[in-house]
Amino acid sequence: MEVMPKRRLQVARRYHRAPVNLERLRDFARNHTSAGAIWQHPAFKAVSPVVDLADAAVRSSRGLSHLPSFSMRSRAMGPALQFGGVHFVDSGRTTARQICEMAALRPDEDVLEVGCSVGRIALAMAEHLEPGRYTGTDVDRKAIAVCLTNPKLASFRFQAQDVFSLVYNPGGRARGSEYEFPFPDGSFDVVYLTSVFTHMLPEDIAQYAREIRRMLRPAGRLVCSVFTVEHRDLAAFPVERTGYRLRSAEFPENAVAYPIGEVDRIMSEAGLARSDGAGTAVWGAPADGRLRTLADQDLLLYVPQPATAGRRAGGSAGGNGAEGRVRGK
Ligand SMILES: C[S@@+](CC[C@H](N)C(=O)[O-])C[C@H]1O[C@@H](n2cnc3c(N)ncnc32)[C@H](O)[C@@H]1O
Repeated sequence: MEVMPKRRLQVARRYHRAPVNLERLRDFARNHTSAGAIWQHPAFKAVSPVVDLADAAVRSSRGLSHLPSFSMRSRAMGPALQFGGVHFVDSGRTTARQICEMAALRPDEDVLEVGCSVGRIALAMAEHLEPGRYTGTDVDRKAIAVCLTNPKLASFRFQAQDVFSLVYNPGGRARGSEYEFPFPDGSFDVVYLTSVFTHMLPEDIAQYAREIRRMLRPAGRLVCSVFTVEHRDLAAFPVERTGYRLRSAEFPENAVAYPIGEVDRIMSEAGLARSDGAGTAVWGAPADGRLRTLADQDLLLYVPQPATAGRRAGGSAGGNGAEGRVRGK
C-alpha cells in the first residue's frame, strides 16, 4: 500500500472538509467509475444514446453537425459543458491559439499532435494550418475513427497507436516506454500534447520525449501540458511515488502530477530544454470561466538541445509501419 491508512484518512478528511467545487465533484465521479473515467461508467453509457440524439439536434440548429457526438466529445474533455458543442469549439480554438502563440507556429509548418482524441484542437488547427501539414495520433481507436470520418479534417492525417493505457486502451499491445512512432527523424516543426502527459507515467513520458526529440527538426518546438506539483492542491493527488504523485493508486493513469524539475530532467535526458520562447504560460481560468476542464494544467515549451557528439537523442530511424513499433522488436 502506498499510503498508511491513518495518513490516507487524514488526507481524505481534509479533502472532504473543503468547500464543494467542480474538481471535487469530478474526483468523486472518477473514483466511482469502473476504469477511472466518467465516460466508462455504465450509467453514462446507458444515457448516452438519448443525450447524443438531443445533442445532435441542438448542434444541427447551430451549424455544428460536423462535431463528434456528445459521448465521443466526452472522451476528450469529460461531459461537463459539452452539450450543444459550443464549448468544444471555443475551448479547441483557445487551446490552439495558446499552442500557436507559445510555439510561434507558422501556417506552413508540419505539426504532430499526440493524443489528439476526437479532434478538438485539430478542428481549430484546420482553420490556421494552410499550407502546413497536420498529423494526429492517439491510443484511442474510436477517437481516431471519428477524426478520419470528419469532413472538416479531410486534409489531415490520423493514426492509431497500439499502446497500452489502462483508461484509454486497455487492449494495447505496446508499452509506452518502448513505443516508437512510425515517422522519420526530423519530420515535424512542432509537436504538441495537451492533457496527455497528465495521464502518463515517467518511463512512458521519457520514451515519448526521446521519440519527439528524434522527430523534431533542429528548430522544432514541443508544447506539452502537465500537472505540476507546485501548482496543485496536493490533497487531490494523495498517492506519493518517487518523482511524481497520483490521484488514484488503483488507476495510475487517471491523473499524474510531477514537480517541474522532474519534467525538465526527463526532457533534458531526451535532449530537450525548457524555453521561455514566447514565455512559459500557465493555463489560467479565462474571464468567462468556460474552460474549467483545462484551467489547472501548465503549458510548457521545450526545444531541442544541440546534439552532442556520440549521443543520439532519438530511437530508430522511424517510418516503420502503420502503427509504430516496439523498441528492439
Ligand atoms: C484528456 S484527453 C485529451 C485529448 C486532447 N489532447 C484534447 O486536449 O482535447 C487525453 C487523451 O490522451 C490520450 N492518451 C492517453 N495516454 C496516451 C498515450 N500513452 N499515448 C497517446 N495518447 C494517449 C487518450 O486516448 C485521450 O485521447
